Amino acid sequence: MHSHPLRSEGVIFGAEYNPEQWDLATQSQDIPLMVEAGITMVTLGTFAWGALETDDGVYDFKWLRRVMDRLHAAGISVCLATPTACPPMWLYHAHPEMAMTNRTGVRLGQGSRQNWCPSSPAYSRYALRLVGRLAEEFGDHPALAIWHVGNEMGCHNTFCFCERSAADFRQWLRERYGTIDRLNHAWGTAFWGQYFRDFDHIDPPRETTTLQNSAHRLDFARFSSDRQIALYDAERDILKSIAPDVPVTTNFMVTEHISSIDYGSFAEHVDLVANDHYLIADDAQSWRELAFCADRTRGLSDNRPWLLMEHSTSAVNWQPRNIAKTPGEMRRNTLAHIARGADGVMFFQWRQSAFGAEKYHSAVVPHAGTETRIWDEAVALGASVARLAEVRGTTADTAQVAIVFDYEAWWATQLDGHPTVDFSYSTEMRSIHSALLDRGIAVDVVPPKADLSKYSAVVVAGLYMMSQELADKIVDAVERGTHLLVTYFSGIVDSDDHVWLGGYPGALRETLGVRVEEFTPLRAGESVRMQVTDRHPGVAEDELTGSVWAERLRNTTAESLAVYSDPALDGAPAITVRDAVGPTGGSAWYISTHLAPPSLAAVVGEFCRVARIRPAARVRGSHVEVIRRRGDDRSYLFAINHSPKEAFVDAAGTDLLTGEAFTGRIPLRPGDVRVIREATA
Ligand code: GLA
Repeated sequence: MHSHPLRSEGVIFGAEYNPEQWDLATQSQDIPLMVEAGITMVTLGTFAWGALETDDGVYDFKWLRRVMDRLHAAGISVCLATPTACPPMWLYHAHPEMAMTNRTGVRLGQGSRQNWCPSSPAYSRYALRLVGRLAEEFGDHPALAIWHVGNEMGCHNTFCFCERSAADFRQWLRERYGTIDRLNHAWGTAFWGQYFRDFDHIDPPRETTTLQNSAHRLDFARFSSDRQIALYDAERDILKSIAPDVPVTTNFMVTEHISSIDYGSFAEHVDLVANDHYLIADDAQSWRELAFCADRTRGLSDNRPWLLMEHSTSAVNWQPRNIAKTPGEMRRNTLAHIARGADGVMFFQWRQSAFGAEKYHSAVVPHAGTETRIWDEAVALGASVARLAEVRGTTADTAQVAIVFDYEAWWATQLDGHPTVDFSYSTEMRSIHSALLDRGIAVDVVPPKADLSKYSAVVVAGLYMMSQELADKIVDAVERGTHLLVTYFSGIVDSDDHVWLGGYPGALRETLGVRVEEFTPLRAGESVRMQVTDRHPGVAEDELTGSVWAERLRNTTAESLAVYSDPALDGAPAITVRDAVGPTGGSAWYISTHLAPPSLAAVVGEFCRVARIRPAARVRGSHVEVIRRRGDDRSYLFAINHSPKEAFVDAAGTDLLTGEAFTGRIPLRPGDVRVIREATA
């Protein structure tokens, strides 16, 4: 097992604490309440630049020291944020050019947050000066457990289009391409006569007339993500130079809807992967998205323990309809993150703000105070998390299945001029993840750099852009025996967004044994039907349906598992299988449409049977997550029942949450969670 980056003990139960919003009388109640709730770590200082540097070079660290001393005395450790997300108003006044400029050339105004250009020299100069002062003041404070750089870097300010950003972008392009000819080739500037004579002639992809050069936009996305990582590195280097033993991280935003930063690259720069996750309130089964994001976060941390830096006790306030969590939902969410590898779970925020933009966002201490459901549930949850101390440091059980997830491929799907607006990369991946989740199968969602050959099965879902290197790696794994499942619009273009010619999906065509000659996307709301052939009698449905997409494909070395039955594609292959790729290879499966959930469940079920993928435990019931964490000499089975019905899990051991011992069939009440220390590891 790897050494643990966090100095604190047990599984962390924490919250972001913003005492600067409260008077001293209120603050004096906070720490006793934290102790009552079992809080073991708080994040401090996230938005406190203005309170710590009240004017240019005028610092006030006294209040923060007082809070840290008191927390330490109460046994609560501190995740200390560098407050660089929100520069103070005096700095904007002195450097108005520091503000963000959007795509249309408008410089953004006051009143919100993170409104600074990532390439601004003034911002960096002041931010790094403050980081150095903060590290000198608190780098050796006994409460300090970890540094937290900025806040959700790039959340609102990834893409700035000002002249300073333009200059930085040109420099980044010079370093990437060396010569302008190479850039012209990569960007395909022969199309629409866009040839550049000099790097100095290139602008960021500002608002323009119609469809925009996709490679130009893609490189701006790469540049902008790299800028955020460079800003992190600059702060980290200062923190490390002053307090070399304190780990450093920042809170990622691994969610379904935020794609702007390449966390696959960023993860290599942090000592501990930390994530913020909020439920999508519109989604009645949002626990599925949580599971997918937690698996992605674990994939980023290479299966080492990670930290959930923020989630909410109940509703947020930034979605169209902010749905309150139901009783027990916060507990299930918290334990689901821990099940999937988190060694700590924290809330935004400790006390619900009385004013400001986020006053209707839930917190541990709500507006109504401590005689509330939220408070009672939080206190009970703190006690439950404390009982899980021995789980700390174990890792999720070795998954047999990997889904490859790539940020650059995600960006590439968002570019102009594609066959349909209905294609969604995250929907494709989540559909397969959900089908596996329903079978109780553990999945690692991994970046392209991961070692794929250790998995029994690899899934490539909607991975539109694929480098030669990744394609080679996938093919190599399959030739050595890994089973492969690929869904439509994968492996279509290379890293420059140039199409792999000769029939789609060019990067994997030979391995799959198919050749797609034409995309035939569907109208909104339209569906296609498919008939299952008799090749795989184990497929649970005879007729399958899909939406969004279809295509005209031919089998070269594969055979059809299902064929289209609609008139336009009548009898053409829809889902194909190549039984074995080479003498020792695995099978290669291809799905050419977006399958409806029951159809996908049937195909994924058959794929798992062929690939011999087994669930973590046998479950009787539906909407139940089962996932295992394992240490050198012990294992823990987490069972989470999201349904209103009782379920049963086949396992034996002791429930850490209740102390009950079970010998085989474990009942799981509606909405309940069990964490079973298994009888045999
Ligand atoms: C993010 C931020 C927090 C807060 C929450 C609200 O995660 O980091 O400061 O705005 O969202 O959900």
